[in-house]
Amino acid sequence: MAADPLSLIRANGRVPCHVAVIMDGNGRWASKRGLPRHAGHWEGMKAVREAVEGACAAGVEILTLFAFSTENWKRPQSEIDALMQLLCAYAESEHEDLAGHGVEVRVLGEISRLGSEARAAVDLIEDATRDGAVLRLNLMVSYGGREEIVRAAGRLAERVRDGRIDPEAIDEDMVERMLFTRGLPDPDLLIRTSGELRISNFLLWQMAYTEFHIASVLWPDFTRKDLFAAILDYQRRDRRFGRVATR
Ligand code: FPP
Repeated sequence: MAADPLSLIRANGRVPCHVAVIMDGNGRWASKRGLPRHAGHWEGMKAVREAVEGACAAGVEILTLFAFSTENWKRPQSEIDALMQLLCAYAESEHEDLAGHGVEVRVLGEISRLGSEARAAVDLIEDATRDGAVLRLNLMVSYGGREEIVRAAGRLAERVRDGRIDPEAIDEDMVERMLFTRGLPDPDLLIRTSGELRISNFLLWQMAYTEFHIASVLWPDFTRKDLFAAILDYQRRDRRFGRVATR
């Protein structure tokens, strides 16, 4: 009998510390069923649960989900409203369970652009899960990789202008400290669902050496088995970070 994927993952040993996910295909999932797009987003919330539980079971330490991009603000207002309601519903329905499982949730991005209800949901889920030590779950909301880098450049420029730093002293660590993900290791593995082969302005700085896994499944159909398959795929990769192979 074939070994179950979790045992294989454990036997292989090298579990990715940080997994990032572009949760794509909600709209297609809905239109295939003749449903409105928001139905796909709601169904996508179940897949978020699968990903979180699977990450905890596999020993992933950080899970970063792309929930709403800066570009998503250009979608029809009805879809933006549905996504914001989803964030509120997720915070309301999941915060206790997440806290109980030791998940610390942080919502990262230009949160100031959110309405008051969504901001209250962010406070609720972050406050309730503050002590989580099993998994750090980053929900990237109103987030864009380019905007994040521009913001970092602006903050560094301010410090130079105020005489607080010497431009010669600016290095990669200093830029990293200006990012929403400051202090976190870069993602080891990126999973994108729905078969698309794009980075879509996600974690542009952080994914310099991330391994990519493209899953054909649409996000609402994503289960922990798909996560485990991605981790097993990752465990077969030879990561060289621009250097030559050492084995
Ligand atoms: C991309 O699918 C997905 C999104 C823009 C939203 C992602 C959000 C969720 C999965 C809900 C989870 C929410 C929380 C609060 C954790 P798409 O709409 O671009 O799909 P398409 O490419 O098939 O049109």
